[in-house]
Amino acid sequence: MSDLRFDGRVVVVTGAGGGLGREYALLFAERGADVVVNDLGGSASGDGGGDVRPADLVVEEIRARGGSAVANHDSVEDGERIVRAAEAAFGRVDVVVNNAGILRDRSFARTSDADWDGVQRVHARGAFAVTRAAWPGMRARGYGRVVVTSSAAGLFGNFGQANYAAAKMALVGLSNTLAIEGAAYGICCNAVVPTAGSRLTRGVFPGELVDALKPEYVAPLVAYLCHESCEETGGVFEAGAGWIGKLRWERSQGRIVREKGKRMTPEAVRDSWEGITDMTSASHPSSIQESTATLVDVLEKINEGHTTSPGNAGDPSAS
Ligand code: NAI
Repeated sequence: MSDLRFDGRVVVVTGAGGGLGREYALLFAERGADVVVNDLGGSASGDGGGDVRPADLVVEEIRARGGSAVANHDSVEDGERIVRAAEAAFGRVDVVVNNAGILRDRSFARTSDADWDGVQRVHARGAFAVTRAAWPGMRARGYGRVVVTSSAAGLFGNFGQANYAAAKMALVGLSNTLAIEGAAYGICCNAVVPTAGSRLTRGVFPGELVDALKPEYVAPLVAYLCHESCEETGGVFEAGAGWIGKLRWERSQGRIVREKGKRMTPEAVRDSWEGITDMTSASHPSSIQESTATLVDVLEKINEGHTTSPGNAGDPSAS
């Protein structure tokens, strides 16, 4: 099969002055894309900014290798400016990789309004602002690829990262909905959950792990998800160390704890707890329609007096 090329495609990578974003930008450029290397050049906690060097150096590197790139130094909070700059340089935006990120780790009790708001603004609002600015053009042309960057801290929680975890799960919700709204316009959107050595993880992982987990082991996943031949959408993918896996929701069969004509009680919940939490024969709902269909089924069952059956009767995979 032929190599995956991005000739003629315009790719915006946010936070591409270092770490993972830099690696994405280099790979897209190597494969022929016109790349907008966005980075405002702040500290890992988002303080400061205005250092044009990180983005400029990546652009220099791309050009030195014969690639096509321009730098942009706006914050992702000004997404409109980033997309206008991309359009001014290359005429349009086909791909948005929402990668920019900061950390303001604190135990929850010590998390200030500024710690919370700063992290939400860069991750959640930033991805919203950049993607919304590119969205009308993608819709009009009937083509787009969007990636958001979530985190294991969001999926599983992590001590001292309540602000970051909340923002990273917000991005999964954003991606899920963009996948649905973009479907009719040829726009695919996925979430990646990377693990790589970078300045954000330098204080978190031991030194040898930071060196071993190279950003270049994540970049090929992002490139593939953004290629026109990849129609995957609404997915969540973990990547690191050269391994890639897909995540999905799992739901127990559950239990009906209400009887027709009787009051539903906390005791009924307690008495069925083992069944409610038993993941044997779990199902994997992937849409709001599937989720609601179960409840319609349960209503019917209760009305017919079947009160002991599991709740997932509407799902053929959970017999
Ligand atoms: P990094 O600190 O090397 O890269 C982040 C870049 O975003 C920096 O160059 C920074 O200047 C830029 N940036 C920050 N705020 C910005 C803003 N408002 N506008 C434009 N640029 C901004 O860190 P790394 O590790 O490469 O992180 C990339 C993304 O991956 C982040 O979203 C991070 O949360 C996420 N991530 C990284 C993991 C890892 O293991 N490295 C784990 C899970 C998620």
